[in-house]
Amino acid sequence: MKTKTKWVYLKEVDSTNDYAKQYVHDHNVAVLAEAQTHGKGRCGRAFLSGKSGMYLSVVRMDDLPLSACSVYMLAAPLAVCDVLAAYGIKGEIKWPNDVWVANKKIAGVLVETEWREERVYRAVVGIGLNVSNDIGDVPCAATSMRLEGVSATVKEVAERVVDALSVYFDMSPAALVATVKPRLLTLGRRVRLPDGRVGTAIDLADDGRLIVKIGGECIAVAAGDVNLAE
Ligand code: BTN
Repeated sequence: MKTKTKWVYLKEVDSTNDYAKQYVHDHNVAVLAEAQTHGKGRCGRAFLSGKSGMYLSVVRMDDLPLSACSVYMLAAPLAVCDVLAAYGIKGEIKWPNDVWVANKKIAGVLVETEWREERVYRAVVGIGLNVSNDIGDVPCAATSMRLEGVSATVKEVAERVVDALSVYFDMSPAALVATVKPRLLTLGRRVRLPDGRVGTAIDLADDGRLIVKIGGECIAVAAGDVNLAE
């Protein structure tokens, strides 16, 4: 049986992920803020979070084994792509979990997990999606739903994302990987690894790791930023 989502609406917060980690100890709670003063990106980066963007953190207490926690990382970009598709926008996933539209970033995902004895007891799935916010200061090629010609409220977009997430959270890592693969713009492309090496992304493992072929060797990349090399 599906658990009903509880919502927490905030006007402004430092980071919805940090708020969730501090105050939310319940399963399936969605924290939505109108703006963040210290939005967090992956790899210690800041995530600019001005008004009219979607800043959402969903708390899950599924008690998954550590080996299945890629579910959180895979479900989030899939949910965003589904919602974009419902508005007529084609999103693609840049490994591990950014969503891009026509070579510009539209959404990012930051998953934070807490675990003990090989089980994840709490996961905070943070998603930032450019809806109608100003992206002038974003330090990479970026776009928003508004720039793609869509007018939607943040609340309606967030509700759709949460609905889509609830379907994906129930899938196995292997089924999620199979669903992600056709949308992964990184596959088949030359990529640069965090240590500077360049290779070809050839597959996605069931645990969400990217398989990259460098010369005759295949390596599985678990974390960090992998950028398109060409
Ligand atoms: C990235 O692009 O590197 C990930 C960005 C994740 C941003 C979201 S916004 C909601 C949640 N709260 C945060 O502080 N970060 C995530």
